[in-house]
Amino acid sequence: MFKTIEWTDQGVRMIDQTRLPSEEIYRTYTDYRQVAEAIRSMVIRGAPAIGVAAAMGIALGVKNSAAKSTADLRAEFEIIAEVLGKTRPTAVNLFWAIKRMREVFEKSLAAGNSNAQGLASVRASLVEEAQRVLAEDVAINEAMGRNGAELMPDAGTILTHCNAGALATGGYGTALGVIRAAVGAGKKLKVFADETRPFLQGARLTAWELAKEQIPVTIITDNMAGHFMKQGEIRAVIVGADRIAANGDTANKIGTYSVAVLAHENAIPFYVAAPLSTIDLSLASGEQIPIEERSAKEVTHLAGVALAPAEVPARHPAFDVTPQRYISAIITEKGVARAPFTQSLSALFA
Ligand code: MRU
Repeated sequence: MFKTIEWTDQGVRMIDQTRLPSEEIYRTYTDYRQVAEAIRSMVIRGAPAIGVAAAMGIALGVKNSAAKSTADLRAEFEIIAEVLGKTRPTAVNLFWAIKRMREVFEKSLAAGNSNAQGLASVRASLVEEAQRVLAEDVAINEAMGRNGAELMPDAGTILTHCNAGALATGGYGTALGVIRAAVGAGKKLKVFADETRPFLQGARLTAWELAKEQIPVTIITDNMAGHFMKQGEIRAVIVGADRIAANGDTANKIGTYSVAVLAHENAIPFYVAAPLSTIDLSLASGEQIPIEERSAKEVTHLAGVALAPAEVPARHPAFDVTPQRYISAIITEKGVARAPFTQSLSALFA
């Protein structure tokens, strides 16, 4: 099995998702700025994986820092956090991870003293914490899988959009984790993977990781979903999330909203699988979720080849928000939330 991301003695190692499925290349980053660039350029992507990468980026930056005083190290921490925090605005796991690392940093500074030995232990505690973030993420996904498996039908085709699998997390996956758990429990599931224009996470990544595991997967283009739903070929939809507001409105890969509306129209259950770290109770509704606008070139070009006239502009919002009324349930590691989500989601944090 591949590793999406890991901490090594040489640095932060990750599989380059921009090169899949044609090449399985691993990159090792020795500087936090490189980790930030890997997040921005989507060498690593998917909300929980971005969170793990940010935690490791901070650990790397602090470990490499030459600061000799608490004040200097704190100032450097803030620069590192700022650089990483500016990479991708929608996935809240990025900010969740930075906050978690900051808390450990401050706690560790408060516990120790400011001599060289004290600062070394602060550095070590951040490296440990980043590795804990990764290990916990895998365990959380497995718990989510157990909680969601029973919602899956005993047999039939499940539609998913984008990639919410092992590649999008520390391992195992959120939406694909639920499918993995259901298949592991003996359910005869097949997957339709939406191609997911423009970055093709479905065709390149979901198809790659499911095929590796011999879970039957078929690629469809995004505009085919309605057709297959109407034909009765899709039993349920399950997707991941980049940020879930307090009322259940869910930001996920662009195109998710259309899939949810189609599922509603065709009376097909639409599930979201996400860890608590993706739920942002500070936002009342999805209207407040910042939507990343990426380069139009990712729309007009494919692998460097122009698909459109050079003089015509293109737009590229990378995410959309699915209103909570289209969501049948939100599957988390702490249990399954259903409408009214304002109550059911906040209860998960109790
Ligand atoms: O732009 P990406 O590839 O980072 O977008 C990823 C998604 O939209 C995923 O569905 C989401 O992050 C959940 S991953 C478990």
